[in-house]
Amino acid sequence: MLEFTHISEAQKLVGKEITLSGWVYRKRASGGVTFIVLRDSTGTMQMSIKKDNVDQKSWGDAENTTVESSVTAKGTVKEDKRAPTGYELEVKSFSNISISEPFPITEYQSTELLLDKRHLWIRSQKMANIMKARAFTFEYLREFFASRHFWEVTPPVLTKAGGESGSDMFETDFFGQKAYLTQSSQLYLELVYDIIPSFRAEKSRTTKHLAEYWHLEAEEAYYSNEDNMKLQEDMVEYVCQRLAHDNAELLELLGVDKKSLEVVKAPFKRITYKEALDYLNKHGAHKDWLDDIGTEDEKILTEKENKPIFVYKWPLKIATFYKREDPEDPEFALNADLQAPHGHGEIIGGSEREWNYDKLIKRMKEFKLSEKDYYWYIDLRKYGSIPHSGFGLGTERLIKWMLNLDHIRDAIPFPRMMNRLEP
Ligand code: 4AD
Ligand code: MG
Repeated sequence: MLEFTHISEAQKLVGKEITLSGWVYRKRASGGVTFIVLRDSTGTMQMSIKKDNVDQKSWGDAENTTVESSVTAKGTVKEDKRAPTGYELEVKSFSNISISEPFPITEYQSTELLLDKRHLWIRSQKMANIMKARAFTFEYLREFFASRHFWEVTPPVLTKAGGESGSDMFETDFFGQKAYLTQSSQLYLELVYDIIPSFRAEKSRTTKHLAEYWHLEAEEAYYSNEDNMKLQEDMVEYVCQRLAHDNAELLELLGVDKKSLEVVKAPFKRITYKEALDYLNKHGAHKDWLDDIGTEDEKILTEKENKPIFVYKWPLKIATFYKREDPEDPEFALNADLQAPHGHGEIIGGSEREWNYDKLIKRMKEFKLSEKDYYWYIDLRKYGSIPHSGFGLGTERLIKWMLNLDHIRDAIPFPRMMNRLEP
């Protein structure tokens, strides 16, 4: 392996001789000096290559290098106020590892071109910083669940039946049997959680729909929907606070006001489905009882909020089969959606589960679901069924909101959307 120092470490090594390796971010030549801003996974640093200080090969390599070429250089770290980060590598030897062809991405590019060239665009500072924040988000989510004694598990992705509505499943051929890419792992979990991709064949071209997204789902034994909502609040608070407190520099680079995350503390406001419809109808929407709450409605509902809000108590008639009816008010389900502020949309769907065998079978009949396909889920109600709740969080929706991104496609390295299967 090539011995080298990361740029983030280099600044602590003023006066020392080190080797840096990375990609040419910028290049400029003036007289007998070539200035190269080098980029690696940890940052950028200026390097000065003076004709009089280096051998002929190094000088030739520096002259010939191009933007995005991979290079390595040895030199001494100097403090220099004029350099973009205040430090510079005074180079003693320089060589190209691989010269880049003219880079196809320049300053002003269409969104479509950036998506076609995603494998290269991902190198940009903006994308790299978003992906770092995404990595931290996943880390903090796992930290949170470990602290609450939940085990992470890995359920299957190829399944025989869906957990949500049947219309938006990707169908595939499994050795002659019909199979589906999982829409939700919910039915496989119980006092555990997972973070794995879910697939949705929704024909939605909105800024919050992906065909493949990373879904965090948790199921909680003996939790009521009330406990479930508290767990969700605590989880969202935990991630926002960790992101705000431990990543000030990253957030600044991303143009995210730290305060927007610091204010995200439990408890979150709660409104019922009915109150949501009333509010919407008072603010220009035309909603009938049993209508779904769509993207435009979500905007109206959360425009003025700076913390997520729960919309709870949805009519059972429009709830999925596994949601438990409220024993005190059977017209309604014991469920809640969590809406992100400023119209970023629903980030969590959760509910108490129907844990009574007879009631579950009755609900499945209403939904015309085959008991054969769900035999194993029904079995769980036969062998020591327990009251429990759970929820699903769209991690990209969470990231989109926390980083205030315009589009969900930027919250995932290689988005899969209706019209995009590559790169
Ligand atoms: O509301 P959904 O469909 O609920 C479920 O899948 C349940 N089984 C969850 C559970 O209780 N275990 O999806 C849950 C969340 C949504 O709130 C949203 O954040 C995200 O998954 N989501 C999507 N994210 C990106 N693109 C899509 N097409 C999404 N569809 C849902
Ligand atoms: Mg939902």
